[in-house]
Amino acid sequence: MSRVKIGWIGLGYMGVPMARNLLAAGFEVILYNRTAAKAEGLGAALAASPAALAGGVDVVVTMLSDDAAQEAVLFGPGGVAEGLRPGQTVINMGTISPEASRRAAARLEDRGVAVLDAPVSGSVKPATDGTLVILVGGPAEAVARCQPIFDVLGKKTLHFGDSGQGANAKLAINMLLGTLIEATAETVRLGEALGLERGQVLEMIGESACVSPIFQLKVPALLADAYPPAFPLKHMAKDFRLIEAAAQAAGVDLPAARAVAARFAAAEAQDLGEQDVMAVISVAATA
Ligand SMILES: NC(=O)c1ccc[n+]([C@@H]2O[C@H](COP(=O)([O-])OP(=O)(O)OC[C@H]3O[C@@H](n4cnc5c(N)ncnc54)[C@H](OP(=O)(O)O)[C@@H]3O)[C@@H](O)[C@H]2O)c1
Repeated sequence: MSRVKIGWIGLGYMGVPMARNLLAAGFEVILYNRTAAKAEGLGAALAASPAALAGGVDVVVTMLSDDAAQEAVLFGPGGVAEGLRPGQTVINMGTISPEASRRAAARLEDRGVAVLDAPVSGSVKPATDGTLVILVGGPAEAVARCQPIFDVLGKKTLHFGDSGQGANAKLAINMLLGTLIEATAETVRLGEALGLERGQVLEMIGESACVSPIFQLKVPALLADAYPPAFPLKHMAKDFRLIEAAAQAAGVDLPAARAVAARFAAAEAQDLGEQDVMAVISVAATA
């Protein structure tokens, strides 16, 4: 597997450091991104289209925004599907719906291509450090074959089951993540409304049993009250739409998640979507 040739599609906040790590580990990597300029400086060949990329590699990895992007790149004109041949593997690492993951797997597996959904837990820093947690659904044999790739990108691979189960796992962990972010924002807002100083409120949380890695990561932004994107808020709003749909389909009532989903939707409506997810603290009062 170490001689495996990888086609990497998607060079956003996450895709760039992940592709860079594979190149640094010695993998042969060919890149494609809709906006070609984002590949500059990575030192890898750039394919003219997803189809052209797929034709020349063993494994195609996508790290794209959402279902629409994944559909366009896999099955649109000049898409990956046009270039694939039996025996290849496609890994989707973006956060897309479990249904889209399963549909893509069914379509491509019919053609002898192995498909994994492998979204990631962790943001730009773990992506840069190669310490993501990879949440996988799909055939065990393909997971085992792709393990050397996952080992470069992450510190842990968790195989949850069949196609779509990696995507489901990602929805579950992001429900907790988004709820922690909103709870942190509300704790700061409550403290300030009660006349407490923000720095001291953050110090108190940091010394409490409620401290977490995600909280610690967000302290500098909260102190500066400035939220340059690491995990763009629009992606968390998208994730909560997927969480609500999945919960409804599964018949499980999640009242806290429903309230948090409304906060991220309000943040998007107030043009905070391109800022970091922690910018949910800036949502103007809506009631
Ligand atoms: N950022 C994080 O901390 C984080 C953490 C875990 C998971 N995720 C998930 O990982 C995925 C990628 O996140 P990111 O932060 O790297 O996103 P991003 O910076 O917004 O990058 C999105 C990528 O998707 C491409 N894209 C979007 N629409 C497309 C379309 N219609 N056709 C072709 N390409 C399209 C973009 O191409 P262009 O460059 O041309 O726009 C870009 O390469 C998302 O699903 C996100 O929810 C993100």
